[in-house]
Amino acid sequence: MSSADSSIGDSGNGNNGHIHVSVYDDLDAVAHAGADLLVQLQAADRPQEHFNIALSGGSTPRALHRVLVTPPYRERVDWESMQYFWGDERFVPPGDPESNYRMARETLLAEAPVTADQVHRVPTERGDPTMVAELYEADIRRDMNILPGQLPRFDLILLGMGPDGHCASLFPHTEALQVRDRMVTANFVPKLNANRITFTVPVINNAVAVVFLVAGADKADALAAVLEGVYDPETYPSQLIAPEHGALHWLVDRAAAAKLQQAH
Ligand code: 6PG
Repeated sequence: MSSADSSIGDSGNGNNGHIHVSVYDDLDAVAHAGADLLVQLQAADRPQEHFNIALSGGSTPRALHRVLVTPPYRERVDWESMQYFWGDERFVPPGDPESNYRMARETLLAEAPVTADQVHRVPTERGDPTMVAELYEADIRRDMNILPGQLPRFDLILLGMGPDGHCASLFPHTEALQVRDRMVTANFVPKLNANRITFTVPVINNAVAVVFLVAGADKADALAAVLEGVYDPETYPSQLIAPEHGALHWLVDRAAAAKLQQAH
């Protein structure tokens, strides 16, 4: 496991802050780095009662979840403070094989000390996509005590990136990219012919820390375009992620970083 942590200046994507890009040998090393960062963020958050985390979907987070529930991280994570949310969800029942909640339940929640009141899943069974997005937003406002007009400030939002440069369910050239007046929105994704529920850009950019976990050669073109290409967020939505008062970390493996030109 090796890493080179570098922060690059303005990456041209409108984020004048620093983006921390760290490159690791493989997915396992990325997962361990993600676990280290979570433990560090929890320590920095104390003595707050709740550590509000938004989990990501897809397959990459499985590696992180496995590391977290295995010694030594199992003993390092403050499980009691965790409040689990989801940054996006497929519009499927919670027991569906496609469900991000189901993946997290099987790989993380079922393996860790968790009580039901710590889990805040997207209620996909409670209506149509628009209704579900409204209900999930209301749940977040209630559970995190967010006043009208305010945004939640998650302690950690985990993200993955697709080969097309999407993150959460913010897919290229879809309506959700423009939404700024809601925390959560439904998003129909034509290329998947599927409805999604997703955090909007303002919520993600209000986080204390946003951490991308990206691995695999199939991500190399998009990662280079997102981090080093022209600012084109309609095509590469991950370029929209620029926490205003928070940290942005890209934890990537060498295969995904293969087409990066800048030293990282
Ligand atoms: C989802 C995710 C999505 C994911 C990327 C990367 O619901 O699928 O939220 O944004 O993070 O598609 O997925 P992989 O980790 O499977 O490559």
